[in-house]
Amino acid sequence: MAAQTRYSKIAIVLHWTIAVLIIGLIIFGLLMTNPNTPNRFVLYQLHKSFGIMVLLLSIFRLVWRLLHRPPALPKDMEKWEILAAKFTHIAFYVIMIGMPLLGWAMVSASPLPIPTELFWTIAWPDLPFIPESKDLEETFEFLHGNIGKLTIGLILLHFGAAMKHHFVNKDNVFVRMMPWVKKRG
Ligand code: HEM
Ligand code: HEM
Repeated sequence: MAAQTRYSKIAIVLHWTIAVLIIGLIIFGLLMTNPNTPNRFVLYQLHKSFGIMVLLLSIFRLVWRLLHRPPALPKDMEKWEILAAKFTHIAFYVIMIGMPLLGWAMVSASPLPIPTELFWTIAWPDLPFIPESKDLEETFEFLHGNIGKLTIGLILLHFGAAMKHHFVNKDNVFVRMMPWVKKRG
């Protein structure tokens, strides 16, 4: 059997769906917390709805990933590069699940009675065991906001690495996540 050279279709669809959602959540998260932005309430509800979607998709993705081996990396990659990629990917899984949980914990701790309704249809409960507390809400808000900003750096690093593989090393690392780009060699 030929060696697997690309991620599976499911892994690729999940990667790009979650990538677009996370980049959108960061952009709209930063916009909606700016007092000059119009329709902020609508943006908050959409942010919470798409954020919970990321949580559910990422749990499924993590289970899928643990059950499926990714294609092998090019043999000429340095040890530090393999470690850096591993570290970034694990950090992304922590963020993909941790960020929505922090957001959910933040709105659960909030003393303000603002319900979370996914896309104005599904009433989403608060997390159990989180007491209403302004201090707790602010702690979760601090973590959610700062980890969100850190994620921007990680995405740039990840994007830069993918581009280096494609345009400098000219290997198949980028292609294995891009079904519509022709394989090399
Ligand atoms: C991967 C998923 C998520 C990402 C990447 C994300 C990212 C962000 C970012 C970058 C901000 C702006 C922070 C700031 O300006 O300091 C923000 C704010 C916020 N997020 Fe999320 N978020 C996610 C999921 C969620 C979820 C699931 C909820 C709630 C159910 C949520 C609730 C909020 C709230 C209430 C704010 C406003 C906080 C404030 O007023 O400072 N987020 N988010
Ligand atoms: C900005 C555009 C992006 C590009 C060009 C890109 C490209 C890639 C490529 C080429 C791979 C395969 C590399 C390898 O397996 O060594 C990959 C894997 C991965 N990417 Fe991205 N990505 C992007 C955005 C994101 C975002 C926003 C996230 C999540 C926050 C993300 C999370 C991941 C994860 C977790 C893997 C590892 C997959 C696994 O083995 O489970 N990516 N990405």
